[in-house]
Amino acid sequence: MHATTMLRAHHGDISLALNILESVCNNLSKNQNPSVAHLDQLFDFLTSFVQNSHFTLEEEVLFPALEMMGVQRSGGAMETASAEHRACAEQLGALLAAADAFRQVEADARDRMVSAGRALVEKLRAHLAAEESAILPLVDKALNEAMQRRLAERMQSLEASRLSPKSYATYHDEIDKLKNAYIRV
Ligand SMILES: [Fe+2]
Ligand SMILES: [Fe+2]
Repeated sequence: MHATTMLRAHHGDISLALNILESVCNNLSKNQNPSVAHLDQLFDFLTSFVQNSHFTLEEEVLFPALEMMGVQRSGGAMETASAEHRACAEQLGALLAAADAFRQVEADARDRMVSAGRALVEKLRAHLAAEESAILPLVDKALNEAMQRRLAERMQSLEASRLSPKSYATYHDEIDKLKNAYIRV
């Protein structure tokens, strides 16, 4: 598999999770509460799969490989992407804090959760779009077939350790099933 094929597949899963989060926020704003189990699953996906695994694969494997191929890190798309990773992680922290407050039935927690959730949807969608247009095409250009495969293997091995005891296949299936409850087709 190509490294960029793997990352684009991740982005597809993350986009789906963001559509679900958007739908959860719309429901919450109409006083319709999501099930606790669904919310736990969505937050686990955003924390473990997106933040702890996907962002880390890019920071620790993809970006160093691009740098080695002579692509400048500072002042370019990679530096912007790293700042966006930090901003998305911070926004996810705000969402999780609001969700905790919501579970404690605090007064303004519903509104906080809706606005933190919508802000994360906006930030992460923009981040995925920026990577798809400014970074992944660069990787396709800079790396040959063998390098793409080698990079994908390294990312898969880091991913396995980051997601353990779950796996990519489990996260992919979970988010796909969750879609049926929140996305109208
Ligand atoms: Fe990223
Ligand atoms: Fe990404």
